[in-house]
Amino acid sequence: MYFNKEIETMPLKKMRELQLERLKWSISHAYENNAFYHKKFEAAGFHPNQFKSLDDMKRVPFLTKQDMRDNYPFGLFAMPMDKVVRVHSSSGTTGNATVVGYTRKDVDIFAEVVARCLVAYGASEKDVIQVAYGYGLFTGGLGLHYGAEKLGALTVPISGGNTERQLMLIKDFGTTMLACTPSYLLNIADYIEKKRPDYDISKTKLRAGILGAEPWSEAMRKEIETRLGINAYDIYGLSEVIGPGVSCECQEKSGLHVHEDHFYVEIIDPETGDILPEGEKGEIVYTTITKEAFPGIRYRSRDITRLYREPCKCGRTLVKMEKVTGRSDDMLIIRGVNVFPSQIENVLMEVEGTEPHYQIILDRKAALDDVEVMVEVSEKLFSDEVKVLDNLKKKISDRFRSVLGISAKITLVEPMTIARSEGKAVRVVDRRKI
Ligand code: DLL
Repeated sequence: MYFNKEIETMPLKKMRELQLERLKWSISHAYENNAFYHKKFEAAGFHPNQFKSLDDMKRVPFLTKQDMRDNYPFGLFAMPMDKVVRVHSSSGTTGNATVVGYTRKDVDIFAEVVARCLVAYGASEKDVIQVAYGYGLFTGGLGLHYGAEKLGALTVPISGGNTERQLMLIKDFGTTMLACTPSYLLNIADYIEKKRPDYDISKTKLRAGILGAEPWSEAMRKEIETRLGINAYDIYGLSEVIGPGVSCECQEKSGLHVHEDHFYVEIIDPETGDILPEGEKGEIVYTTITKEAFPGIRYRSRDITRLYREPCKCGRTLVKMEKVTGRSDDMLIIRGVNVFPSQIENVLMEVEGTEPHYQIILDRKAALDDVEVMVEVSEKLFSDEVKVLDNLKKKISDRFRSVLGISAKITLVEPMTIARSEGKAVRVVDRRKI
C-alpha cells in the first residue's frame, strides 16, 4: 500500500527529471528571495542560470548549521512573513537555536511525507496513532500529528512523558501505533516490568512503534520487538529539512526510503566536501526542492549514512538510506534534544564560580539518557559552606533546563579533579550503547 503510488513507485529516469525541474526552481527561489543565499551564491561565483543538469550540483555552495545560527531567527526565510504559518526550532532556546519556517504548502508537504511513512508501516485510516513525541517547537509531535491526521487515522496527541497515562490510553483508546523515541519506548517496557506487572501489553492492540529522533541500532530493535511483541519501525528527519518524514522504513525494515521528490540527497566526503558515488558511506547533504518558506540548499546534515538503490519488495523505487548511527560532528542527542558540547560550555561559563574544566557523562539508566555534568569550581568556593555549593548546583541545573532544555545531575568537584588530556580535552564520555 502507498499513500502516493505514482511518486513512491516512480521510475528513476522520471524521478530525475522531476528533481531537476524542481531543483532549478528551488535554487532560483532561494537566490531571488533571500539575501543571504544571494550573497553566498555570488561569493561562490555561482548563478542559478548555470544550473542545467544534476551534475551542476557540485557548483552550489553548502549551507551549514552555523549559517542558520548566524541568521537567527528568520534570516533564511524566502517568503514574506505573512505567508509563513508555522515555525519550529531545534537546539536550545537562545540565539544558538536554528529556526525553520513553513508556508501553508510546506505544512501540507510535511503532513504528506509523514502520511507516506505511516502507510509504509502498514497504517490506514483504521489505525489509532498515539503521538508521544514532544509537541512544541520540536518537529516530532506536530509532525507526526499532522501526518496521522492527513492519513485519516485517529490521532492521539498525548505528547511525551507520563508513562502511566500512555499505558492507560494505549488500553482505553485501542492504540495500534505508538510514535516516540526508541529510548522512551524501552523505558516504557522497563516501567511495565517493574511497576505494572499486571499490565499485559499483548492484550492491547498495540502493534507498531514509530521510532526516531535519535540513533538506534538493530540490537535495540530486537529488544523492543521481543519485549513488547510489536514491530519497531524507523522514522528519520531533521528540522532543517522539514522534520520527521524525510525518510522512513517500510515493512521490509531494510533501509529508509527517502522522499526524494521533495528532498534531493547527496553523499559527500565530510573532510573534502566532494560528492561520493552512490553506495559509499559519507555525510548526507539535503536540498529541499519544493519548500517555500525556508529553502535548504545543500544543507550539511553531519549525519553519516549510505545511499543505495535496490528493488525493494515493497515496490517503492525511492532511494534508500542506511540507518543513521553516527555523525561527523560532536552533536549529542540527549533524550531527543540536540545539544552541542559548546552550548554546554557556554552555560557553564556564564555561571560565576565555575572553572573551564568540565566533563559530560552520558549513560542510559532505565533506558533513558542520563546526564551528569562534572564541573570544577574554584578552590575558594570549595572551602565555603555546603549551602553555597548547593546553590551553585541549583543555579547550573536551572540554566541547563531553561537554556538547553535538558535536566542534568550536576556534580561539583575540586580543581584538578577532572583528568587533563595532552591532546583534545575529553569533554564527553558517552557510555550509552546504541
Ligand atoms: O529529530 C526530527 C524527528 C522527530 C525525526 C521525530 C524522527 C522522529 P531534529 O531535532 O532537528 O529533528 O534532529 C535531527 O536527529 O540530524 C539526526 O542526527 C537525528 N535523527 C533523527 N531521526 C533519526 C533516526 C528530529 N531515525 C537529527 N535515526 C538528525 C538516527 C536520527 N538519527
